[in-house]
Amino acid sequence: MGSKIKLTNSTGTKITNEELCTLGSQHAVITWVTPQQRADTSMYIGETPKHLKKHTFALDSEFHYLEMYNLKPSTRYWYQVESNGVKGSLNSFTTLPAPKGKYLFSFAVMSDTHINYGEVAEDINEIYFGKLVDYANPLLTQCILDSKRRNIDLAVITGDLTDTASRLQYLGLRNQLLPYFGDTPYLLCPGNHDKYTKNSGLGEQGFLDNLADREKTYTSIIFKDYLFLLIDSCRQDENWGDIDPVQMRWIESMLTTNKDRPAFLFLHHPCNGPDLWFGIKNNREFLKLTRSFPNIQGIFCGHIHRNYVSVNRLMTGSRPYVEVPATVQFPCAYAVVRVYENGFAYNSYKVSRLDLSEMSRERFILKKGGKAILTRYCLGRIGDRSFSYFNDQLFRPKQYELSVTLDNTNANKLYENARSIDGASLIPAYDTKKAKVILGRYDSLHLTTQAFREKFFRYGAYARIMEVGNES
Ligand SMILES: [Fe+2]
Repeated sequence: MGSKIKLTNSTGTKITNEELCTLGSQHAVITWVTPQQRADTSMYIGETPKHLKKHTFALDSEFHYLEMYNLKPSTRYWYQVESNGVKGSLNSFTTLPAPKGKYLFSFAVMSDTHINYGEVAEDINEIYFGKLVDYANPLLTQCILDSKRRNIDLAVITGDLTDTASRLQYLGLRNQLLPYFGDTPYLLCPGNHDKYTKNSGLGEQGFLDNLADREKTYTSIIFKDYLFLLIDSCRQDENWGDIDPVQMRWIESMLTTNKDRPAFLFLHHPCNGPDLWFGIKNNREFLKLTRSFPNIQGIFCGHIHRNYVSVNRLMTGSRPYVEVPATVQFPCAYAVVRVYENGFAYNSYKVSRLDLSEMSRERFILKKGGKAILTRYCLGRIGDRSFSYFNDQLFRPKQYELSVTLDNTNANKLYENARSIDGASLIPAYDTKKAKVILGRYDSLHLTTQAFREKFFRYGAYARIMEVGNES
């Protein structure tokens, strides 16, 4: 965990990288860092800015992982984090509506664990983008333990289980890591890395012989009367995806046979829209095939190592296509899907080893402001990390921010001034010589523009308004 640093007085304490990670109908997760200072993890929260109640969750940490329970659905809350007496900005969120109908069960989705045991693919993610190959094992282990604490009934891992498909990696997964699931059943899709044969990789035969416990790389199960289809979108030594004709026919026949059952589909590669980056090449064919099955509730994939949710209004209405983040790379996260009679709620959570998530962020290297790019791209927007989907309606929360980007000296001056008056936080800017001061984050544009005027008169700062996670 973080370095041993004594609790100091508030002088020098900074609230950095504050993020609303997860938002449900009754809970929310907020994380932040107080660099090189161990401090308390506290928050003021209430339904109006004038009536906030303080809660303290931990006493002595540099990495703050705060989870708030017992919130009311579809309700606006105001909140302000605090460490060592120093406050972040006064922000707001509105909790998601609870899906209608009875709660049925939940399952975890994880992806891109890239277990390597020292045999690494040496790809650009590792060299430039913070892929923590040396911490792949503890990250997977912790994600399994974290998700089990959330009372999952099942787990699915959507590929890139291994980094190079070596024998050692498959055996380590089977004998040392996956057993952390205990009696929780788990299902596996292969990823492109699990089909490598270069560098002594075993390719898909390694996956079949050691992990899958089945004859084919694709499979299906009925769980609690829901159809789970695990599709193989990978080809040997190929990073792009593709679903072969045999599987296309199998998918159609499985969906036809089970047309009265709700279905969840899983594959390694993204399959929706024109913004595919190394997705499945025959995505139009796949979308055409699946559009006529309204029983498909959601389609989950990994591969891109980011939180991202999209829809295809023309072809499939508001059905969500969900890119699940990697466990091995910032934000180092997993997702939990809670299924109700009429739909489901999706939440992705950073791993509780926040020190590792932050280490990945710090290792992201680009000449200019790589960390800011990473934040936008891999963390996504709050609506990419949390949503509710029921009665064919998709509810995605939003958060807008008021921020000022200045050179480091002036950013620190504004930050010191704002934190002494009504709170603020700091995050890296695109340009590494600059920093971004967050003066507030709000769940509506109306609130943001109101706050813009207040902050302008208070600080003389002409703040920029943008959706959080959509910076440029
Ligand atoms: Fe991957």
